[in-house]
Amino acid sequence: MLLELTRPELVRTGNLIDGRWSGAAEDGRYLVINPANGERFAEVPDSTAVDAHAATDAAARALPAWRATLPRERAAILRRWHALILANLEDLARIMSTEQGKPLAEARGEVHYGASYVEWFAEEGPRVYGDIIPQQQRGKRMSAVKEPIGIVAAVTPWNFPLAMIARKIAPALAVGCTVVAKPAEDTPLTALALAQLALEAGVPCGVLNMISASRDQGVAAVGDWLADARVRKITFTGSTAVGKHLARASADTLKKLSLELGGNAPFIVFEDADLDAAIEGLMASKFRNGGQTCVCPNRVYVQAGVYDAFARKLGERVAALKVGPATDDSAQIGPMINARAVEKIARHVDDALSHGARVLTGGRKLDALGPNYYAPTVLLDAKEGMVVCCEETFGPVVPLFSFEREEDVIRAANDTPYGLAAYFYTRDVRRIHRVSAQLEAGVIGANEGAVASAAAPFGGVKESGYGREGSRYGLDDYLSVKYVCEGGLD
Ligand code: SIN
Repeated sequence: MLLELTRPELVRTGNLIDGRWSGAAEDGRYLVINPANGERFAEVPDSTAVDAHAATDAAARALPAWRATLPRERAAILRRWHALILANLEDLARIMSTEQGKPLAEARGEVHYGASYVEWFAEEGPRVYGDIIPQQQRGKRMSAVKEPIGIVAAVTPWNFPLAMIARKIAPALAVGCTVVAKPAEDTPLTALALAQLALEAGVPCGVLNMISASRDQGVAAVGDWLADARVRKITFTGSTAVGKHLARASADTLKKLSLELGGNAPFIVFEDADLDAAIEGLMASKFRNGGQTCVCPNRVYVQAGVYDAFARKLGERVAALKVGPATDDSAQIGPMINARAVEKIARHVDDALSHGARVLTGGRKLDALGPNYYAPTVLLDAKEGMVVCCEETFGPVVPLFSFEREEDVIRAANDTPYGLAAYFYTRDVRRIHRVSAQLEAGVIGANEGAVASAAAPFGGVKESGYGREGSRYGLDDYLSVKYVCEGGLD
């Protein structure tokens, strides 16, 4: 049984506000559904703006004391949180697979991945240095100090229910901010379990507050944070449309924003590439989380001379992928998150086929497994103008485009409003540097498909957003720089 947990009490079905678990103020609740079978998993608070406001009140009360703690004291709490996440790895993975659908092996991997951000920021928090500015005038000393920005609102997606929220909360707490958070409607339970472990680690009351909400109420709850001048920063991972809305709606209180938005990643295979390595890289990056990943390749460009050989090898590998629920240990691809996601994938594939693409493998729903399954798919003869070329499919579909010249593929790769990740394979060192420099993306995989790391700056350019998560740059988003000018020193 997927939900046989060592600690069943980690399935928290309340909001965490001021260190206490409670229902929504207006008593609303909504169902969290297991996407593998459409069955009820749990019922959680359907929070409103009233709960969002109460969370901000708690975060405001907790802020003065928390920002006054020593960085090493905060780091010690984060280290305990990290240890607790790993100690409860199996339960967290099972909760995650039940609400999100990903295979258990991937869910376990995500717990490690998310925990690595907590560890990383526990280490980086005590290293937030300012500057003494070289003297400009006699009798004056100028310095720049970095301070916590204040209350942070974190709004996170369903595709990585643990890692995405951990990499926002951990840096915020590490530098002395307090947090109000809303995990995705579909996957609140992993995040709520994480919040329970934060309490156990010693995060003080009100420092981390978390509310769950359905889609409509969630908009109102986040609206309250947008309008509240006490909330100084919003960190959001999700669609570009919502990111733009947040940017507009936060203008009145001029909040700092970090936006990790949609992608449309190109994956380029040059004729001189190691084709087997390129296949491995593509399988790892494209099919991670069933293709429901912002950084996963959406368009695969293969140079004409190796197109057929590459397609043949890829088709064999993709056809062999095992699809099934997380209860099936051998499953490599789980269900998509919901019926809307499957409809979108089917629409993209149908559009490609109606414009001349051909199915090499897949290309259909897998209704026998349940309502939310789609077969891993490779499409041949993909062309510019097809929806798969312009929009993020967010599913297990590989459209294969052919190209002749390097300059053509660079132009095609950059011909999108998005700029999150881009990948390419070549054995030519000069081309690695040339192509890396020309691709318009925040994350580049050169002969590498697995780019995720807590030590690396993650984020996009263009309409994929701004701000960076992870790495030492990931702290900057939660800090403001104060300039102090001391006079009369001569
Ligand atoms: C995402 O694509 O949604 C995040 C992926 C990552 O952290 O690698």
